[in-house]
Amino acid sequence: MRMLVTGGAGFIGANFVHYTARNHPGYEVCVLDALTYAGNRESLAPVADQVRFVHGDICDTTLVDRLVAATDVVVHFAAESHVDNSLLDPEPFIRTNILGTYTILEAVRRHDKRLHHISTDEVFGDLALDAVEKFTERTAYDPSSPYSAAKASSDMLVRAWARSFGVPATLSNCANNYGPYQHVEKFVPRQITNVLVGERPKLYGAGENVREWTHVDDHNEAVHLILTKGRAGESYLIGSGDERSNAQILALVLDLMGEPADAYDHVPDRPGHDLRYSNDSTKIRTELGWQPRYGDFRAGLAATIDWYRHNDWWWKPQKDATEARYQLLGR
Ligand code: NAD
Ligand code: TYD
Repeated sequence: MRMLVTGGAGFIGANFVHYTARNHPGYEVCVLDALTYAGNRESLAPVADQVRFVHGDICDTTLVDRLVAATDVVVHFAAESHVDNSLLDPEPFIRTNILGTYTILEAVRRHDKRLHHISTDEVFGDLALDAVEKFTERTAYDPSSPYSAAKASSDMLVRAWARSFGVPATLSNCANNYGPYQHVEKFVPRQITNVLVGERPKLYGAGENVREWTHVDDHNEAVHLILTKGRAGESYLIGSGDERSNAQILALVLDLMGEPADAYDHVPDRPGHDLRYSNDSTKIRTELGWQPRYGDFRAGLAATIDWYRHNDWWWKPQKDATEARYQLLGR
């Protein structure tokens, strides 16, 4: 199996490449990544001898065409991925997430290749904190931020190319991920690394917003199942079922790191801040037999804290620039 992994130097993509090298050592993996501020080649260092790395842009039609022609399957992670950045400057989100996905789709159409498109549950908008219903594969798209609107657009393109051109594509919408190699701009690593550098963690608003936390390896195991057993043209929701408010997560981080429970700052809320995400992942569980392995969130978070503690060489170079962007947002 030859696999082209876009965005393989980012958080989930790099963990996907590690997972693939561990569990499918016979696969030939080629990573295509533009190494934006979010990409880090060091994340692939442990598997460098098993992976070909191409430094390039998914909007580069000629490059993408050549790489897609030489693969069996494309696993498409590359994206601008952070809501707060999309509020500062939406343009790269429109370009990479929409035009980049269009470029990949045209190449897989020309060469009749299998595509799996990675997306987020944020395309559905949000749920009330006390809502009984969850997102399902049939929930109408209703994105709130430039990030989620651009991801929703990319999903729509994938669905249209599957239906109109018969492109053998599958799509998955996963809940919030945590684990090693996540950029320090995201909630969990920002709080952990703030404690490690002696800064106070930052909670948006009252911290009541709820996310469903899924370990990155559970997400990637689901992606592998979809690649081998998923039905073309179908989309699958992925989520652990473990929902927690931001205040609860922060309390756990402070507890696990031996900090006082009140050692954090409230900062102004994010505009348009989605209240709650919650996925009904019955389809992937019953049709493909997926089960999250990281059932104990506290243990998974403790392991993640440990990883950041022992790998400051990986995240420290990005910390100052990240906090400078937050200063511009007042958060
Ligand atoms: P990330 O920001 O950590 O990584 C994105 C990667 O894409 C980086 O390596 C970056 O260099 C690369 N990239 C960006 N623009 C590119 C371009 N034009 N050409 C080539 N490469 C480019 O993101 P992530 O958190 O790993 O997310 C990966 C995917 O998973 C995204 O599509 C995101 O929408 C989706 N997703 C993320 C989460 C989450 O919790 N992080 C949850 C569900 C879905
Ligand atoms: P984030 O990791 O940006 O993921 P998303 O917005 O895509 O869900 O944020 C997760 C939650 O944490 C979200 O409700 C915003 C909140 N948050 C904070 O309270 N403080 C922070 O410093 C950050 C980055 C996020």
